Amino acid sequence: MSEIVLQAKGLKKSFKSPAGPLAVLRRVDLEVRAGESLSIRGSSGSGKTTLLQLLGGLDIPDAGEVRLQLGSRGFVAPHRCLGQGVGFVFQNYQLMAELNAWENVALAAEIAGRGRSEKEAQELLTLVGLGHRIHHMPAQLSGGESQRVAIARALINQPAVILADEPTGNLDETTGQEIMKLLLEVVAQRQAALVLVTHSKEFAERTQRRLLLSGGVLSPA
Ligand SMILES: Nc1ncnc2c1ncn2[C@@H]1O[C@H](COP(=O)(O)OP(=O)(O)O)[C@@H](O)[C@H]1O
Ligand SMILES: [Mg+2]
Repeated sequence: MSEIVLQAKGLKKSFKSPAGPLAVLRRVDLEVRAGESLSIRGSSGSGKTTLLQLLGGLDIPDAGEVRLQLGSRGFVAPHRCLGQGVGFVFQNYQLMAELNAWENVALAAEIAGRGRSEKEAQELLTLVGLGHRIHHMPAQLSGGESQRVAIARALINQPAVILADEPTGNLDETTGQEIMKLLLEVVAQRQAALVLVTHSKEFAERTQRRLLLSGGVLSPA
């Protein structure tokens, strides 16, 4: 079996609500191995986005820990190395409206301290089939094209793991199929692991391992 690149142990997360604390994650354990693809399904509000945010270091757990393998630096908590090791793809693309396609991709490299990487950003846009749209602004791109930019952005720092939160949720059936195919192809080509949150049973079945988030815990689906 390949090495562990991302590991979560005993994750707990609650949010304040007017009715008292809302326990969203009760005890989540997860190991993601290099290059594997896994999907997480669960009803709306079950905590899927909360879990991905903890895995990628955009939020921190109340208890438990997340560890990300960062090459020679060994295991690091993802919130201490934002932009490195993990790439995000969101349902609503989350592109910067005032930057064009290649600038959106290059910004991720800049934030990670790797310089502006214009050429690399343009090469990645070509890889995702958008070589003819590199100067387009987000408002001038379709949903599918926007998600292609977001996938290029997620790849630019050569992450070991891509975290995708309902990446086809805003797309029509045909475009969703195209984006899913692209995502699976690029992670395989770049040997990145994929953690895919999806409502689609069909897309979930295209990943190697399927999990269900329910009652604040993960179990095999
Ligand atoms: N920042 C927050 N403050 C309060 N409640 C939150 C916050 N984020 C999420 N929640 C609540 O936690 C639950 C899980 O949310 P989320 O992780 O977005 O679920 P999912 O992605 O599975 O639909 C929901 O009931 C949501 O309302
Ligand atoms: Mg969600």
